Amino acid sequence: MMMISYLIRLIILAAFAALGSSSNNCPHGPKIRFPFWLKDQQHHPEHSSGYPGFGLSCTQTDDTVLELLFPPKASLLSQTKLLFSVKFVIKEIDYKLQSLLVSTVDGCLPALLPNIDLFASPFHFQDAYGQYDEYTYFNCSTTRSDYYLNHIHCLSTPSYQVYAVQSSIEAFSIPLFSCTKMFQIPSVPFALFHFIPTLLELV
Ligand SMILES: *[C@@H]1O[C@H](CO)[C@@H](O)[C@H](O)[C@H]1NC(C)=O
Repeated sequence: MMMISYLIRLIILAAFAALGSSSNNCPHGPKIRFPFWLKDQQHHPEHSSGYPGFGLSCTQTDDTVLELLFPPKASLLSQTKLLFSVKFVIKEIDYKLQSLLVSTVDGCLPALLPNIDLFASPFHFQDAYGQYDEYTYFNCSTTRSDYYLNHIHCLSTPSYQVYAVQSSIEAFSIPLFSCTKMFQIPSVPFALFHFIPTLLELV
């Protein structure tokens, strides 16, 4: 009897040790707690399931990544049902405010904006001003540095620069003789072009 209870204690202790040693953050990342969980844990595959959409993973450079899948805009649903993946490198998690500090976005989010429904996700870009604006994209053959032009590096090439401008500004002030209009996107959170690192907020 003594032996059995000793064994049970040992097993429980071993289980706690295993849980404790299973790293629940990436080496350079924030502590990962509920509702987040760490994917791809080789040693504890049984723990690799959790709240869907809240799985984080570690990159080869030990950063913490959240992958969000955005559905296509309603107007494109007849053409594609594929989800668009965007990966965010997470610097900090504020569990009290339910927000994530994003240091970089992997991939070209501004290029996806015409196609994705940015609001069909449990995470929203925090916007200190509550400002959502329509933006117009321009493709320019000259480099410009006006403060209201947001340079989209990942869409630009050495000979053509792509800029996004709040459509309300564009309407009256820009002599864009060397630029052609590409498209307009309604309801873009101000933070998306103006602040990276930025905050993603759980809603
Ligand atoms: C910008 O315009 C040039 C010339 O028409 C074109 O080659 C290039 O692909 C355009 N860039 C984008 C991102 O559409």
